[in-house]
Amino acid sequence: VARFGILAAMPAEIAALRKVVTDQVEHKRGEVFSFTTGKLEGCEVVFGASNVGMVFAASAATTMISEFGATKLVFSGVAGGLLAGQSIGDIVLGASVINYDMDCRAFKYPWDPSYQLRLGETPFVEWAHVYPADPELLKVARGAPPPAGAALSEGRIASGSKFCDTAMKAEMAATHWCHLGDPACCEMENAAVAQVCRAYSVPYLSLRALSDLATGDAAADFNAFCDAAADNLLPIVRHVVRYS
Ligand code: ADE
Repeated sequence: VARFGILAAMPAEIAALRKVVTDQVEHKRGEVFSFTTGKLEGCEVVFGASNVGMVFAASAATTMISEFGATKLVFSGVAGGLLAGQSIGDIVLGASVINYDMDCRAFKYPWDPSYQLRLGETPFVEWAHVYPADPELLKVARGAPPPAGAALSEGRIASGSKFCDTAMKAEMAATHWCHLGDPACCEMENAAVAQVCRAYSVPYLSLRALSDLATGDAAADFNAFCDAAADNLLPIVRHVVRYS
């Protein structure tokens, strides 16, 4: 059966989905994972919260694909905004994803020491640098109606294993973001999921709503706005599942 996978990091990010998916069956796997199969917009879906970070996210994505037969995958969750003019609740369609934790700039290929690996580039796997969204999924997402009061934009999403606060945002702005294609937001899972999906040739799209602007008291904003921001993505997810 063709199935749409909808992955998030935290239960709050799938709370709205849980209320609208029908025929739900829960499948626990190991100590941390729980996947729910069901139907949404006339499609078979599997959804779940992997927990935070790229290790859990990669493992959950792999399970969705190899065990639950996900043939397309979207990630729906919250992120910290990195661009001027953004507001909490705004939505970023991930046109591409990059992993800023992957740093092999000091490595040299023996056969071509003049080749300079870039920040985010995985050595020995030529495609593993920037992960573009599946063009069809992105095209469909562009047609989704944004929820009232939320701006919808397209951009690059930067993934890493850090919660980005004021100090890190300033440091990255001064050093790395320009080498990473000026990402619109930062979070902690998408690059892993994009990489797994690319490895298994599964079409993938990242959707993120801003829970904070990675500045001020970013943790307090995250805690205050995570639920409402995540809920903003439900109409987009439904639209993508329905029309792709
Ligand atoms: N997810 C939501 N907000 C974030 C932030 N500021 N840094 C990393 N991941 C996030």
